[in-house]
Amino acid sequence: MLHTGRHFLQIPGPTNVPDRVLRAMDRPVIDHRGPEFARLGAEVLEKIRPVFQTTGPVVIYPSSGSGAWEAAIVNTFSPRDRVLMFETGHFSNLWREVALRMGLQVEYVAGNWRGGASPAEAEARLAEDKDGVIKAVMVVHNETSTGVTSRIAEIRRSIDRARHPALLMVDTISSLASMDYRHDEWGVDVTVGGSQKGLMLPPGLSFNAISEKALAANKDAKLPRYYWDWQEMLKPNRAGFFPYTPATNMLYGLREALLMLHEEGLPNVFRRHARYGEATRAAVRAWGLEIVCEDPAEYSNSLTAVFMPEGHNADRLREIILENFDLSLGNGLSKLAGKVFRIGHLGSFNDLMLAGTLSGIEMGLELAGVPHCAGGVAAALKCLVESKLVAVGN
Ligand SMILES: Cc1ncc(COP(=O)(O)O)c(C=O)c1O
Repeated sequence: MLHTGRHFLQIPGPTNVPDRVLRAMDRPVIDHRGPEFARLGAEVLEKIRPVFQTTGPVVIYPSSGSGAWEAAIVNTFSPRDRVLMFETGHFSNLWREVALRMGLQVEYVAGNWRGGASPAEAEARLAEDKDGVIKAVMVVHNETSTGVTSRIAEIRRSIDRARHPALLMVDTISSLASMDYRHDEWGVDVTVGGSQKGLMLPPGLSFNAISEKALAANKDAKLPRYYWDWQEMLKPNRAGFFPYTPATNMLYGLREALLMLHEEGLPNVFRRHARYGEATRAAVRAWGLEIVCEDPAEYSNSLTAVFMPEGHNADRLREIILENFDLSLGNGLSKLAGKVFRIGHLGSFNDLMLAGTLSGIEMGLELAGVPHCAGGVAAALKCLVESKLVAVGN
């Protein structure tokens, strides 16, 4: 089928890259050891900090998010160190796998892929660990396979109540610059981020925001590292440089994306995503379909994962929607394959893009013969309009 107009990329990352960011990257490559690069490097290394709500250092890697997972681990632990992790879905499983391959012992709290990391469970496990054997609590903030957001501030309070010295490490790959996240205030020691979601960039950059406590742990950490070594990065970073060839043009894109986020203002970015989360869930409920996330306190504002009715395949629905409307939706990952589709509503995105996305899904449900009620789009539009009316005080 011949498609016209723009493709709708509504997977939960990579997200749509704004033209401004694309234009900013469309320039000749410069000498990464020269003065122009030093200015660019220094600027992005400084301006990325408020996005993590930190005043501390943020390291930028030329890698996908998985690299930043590995970096967080090899910089802070020694072989056979014990860590506490929570099964929230596909991505917590993968991060656990990284930890195991790096030689850590992982205490993995089982989950049903419909909820977030349990603060109560964290407190209980840490309170039992009188000798402080557990070196870190590691949580995926926004589980991209399920659309569930773990309550990091509450996890912090659990660690404090247990009076436990464990580090707190958080993966914000699909929440950063979309949902409120406070590295400093929540006492997070290492925050892992990626470029391709809320930051509105192509895939290819990843981040570690690092606390003082994590830097202290880094001094004793014995796991081997070279490419990911924070110290190797932080030294040249002071002058705006990198220890190896940086992703120069991605950094131009990052500079523009940070400017855009600054112009909009982070609180407005979070409010915008909250509206999209609300409106999308209103559509799903009106269709009579089931949201994967069970607890409204854990709803994700960057994506919504939706169960298919029994006997209907999510990949078939996604195929029909792609073929007919040039709209890409996220697939169900690992054990949710075929059972779930995911709607990405994050990044460079506006009300009409959401309306178009939900329209494509509603028409797709009809074409695919999936039992549903009409009126999902109407419910979402009502929700979007009502929140605008509230904003203008009507
Ligand atoms: C929450 C989360 N963590 C980690 C990753 C892995 O990142 P990447 O695919 O960029 O390596 C992803 C990717 O979607 C993710 O959503």
